Amino acid sequence: MLFGLIYRGWPSLLLSRLAWPQFALFQIGTAVLVAGKFDIDSRGSGTLAPQGSILIVLGTAVMFWMFAMSATDVPAPQKGSIKCVMPVHKHYGSNEIVARILAAIPWSESDGVALTASLLFPFDQLHGRELFATKEHSARLNPEIGAHLLDIGSGIGGPAGYFASMLGCRVTGIELTPDFVIFANELTSFCGMSDQANFVLADAASIQFKANTFDHAYCLYVGMNLPDKPAVLAECFRVLKPGATLIWTEVTSRSGVPHYPLPWSLTADGSHVDTSDTLCHHLSSAGFEVLTVEDETNAHLVLANRMKLSGKTPLVGQVQANEVVLGPDFVVRRQNYLKSLLEHLIASTLIVARKPQAEHVA
Ligand SMILES: C[S@@+](CC[C@H](N)C(=O)[O-])C[C@H]1O[C@@H](n2cnc3c(N)ncnc32)[C@H](O)[C@@H]1O
Repeated sequence: MLFGLIYRGWPSLLLSRLAWPQFALFQIGTAVLVAGKFDIDSRGSGTLAPQGSILIVLGTAVMFWMFAMSATDVPAPQKGSIKCVMPVHKHYGSNEIVARILAAIPWSESDGVALTASLLFPFDQLHGRELFATKEHSARLNPEIGAHLLDIGSGIGGPAGYFASMLGCRVTGIELTPDFVIFANELTSFCGMSDQANFVLADAASIQFKANTFDHAYCLYVGMNLPDKPAVLAECFRVLKPGATLIWTEVTSRSGVPHYPLPWSLTADGSHVDTSDTLCHHLSSAGFEVLTVEDETNAHLVLANRMKLSGKTPLVGQVQANEVVLGPDFVVRRQNYLKSLLEHLIASTLIVARKPQAEHVA
């Protein structure tokens, strides 16, 4: 329980390969120690208690080691430079997101009415054009009821909640930010949908699922944080079933350097935008058949403009949502994003691709 609380307080520790062995070691040690105590109570002596104590000491030592190592995961500034790249999980994660969302939505546990995924939609779609885009992607994907979808970079579970609650799909989300994994599972459980959507901590470049596991996949606004897209696409290809569709949206580079800070990175060092041609090349090299490539930039600008004309720029609820989940400076980052789109420095690109049927796979 003690270490459960420690993992809860410092979720980035869960990224360590030692996390589960450490947890298991400590739990087994505790069980052996308790068994040893009963042994001593009944027989007056026993060897189990000392063995349990050794396992507990080892488990505690591993935890100290993990703490020491996690302190080194923030890259030190280069000599002569004041910049350092912020790791993805530190850029996105923050404490108490769930509490902040629950305080902001028109729902209270005391009303005795169940929380629903749709109440969360204004807050949990962490990509460009938020719920508008999710609805369009779901129509594009048009998955069969019960289809098992892979959500790559699942955020706090918003798109997964949509696919599960509105289309009856089963969704597995993989996500690099430990806070987001915890919050996505928590919010999903509050909505009573844990059997339909679950989220695991993973780097998309190394997915722990077997080949041919998922019916379809989508990856919404994650690519800008992926330094090794070929590795991610190779993994995605591997775990998809033949014939599966992949929806991929991300910000792509166009004619210049965008204005920072941006929603996905405060500085250029943490931003991995490619041209849409490069992206298509990566998809084809991974084995995907690229079906459509759409420049969605106008849709973003038109939506922003429509809100402006209707006197709702930015939408009050949207400002709240962005600030609630991603912090008070998000509004500035979003403005920089729209400005960079408007100046043709970047574009928003949507790609629909397919894993060929088995006989066509090389
Ligand atoms: C802009 S958010 C989009 C979240 C989600 N797709 C949505 O639309 O609500 C980008 C997400 O990608 C995640 N991410 C970045 N790099 C990742 C990686 N290598 N593996 C898994 N997730 C990653 C981040 O932690 C963050 O939650």
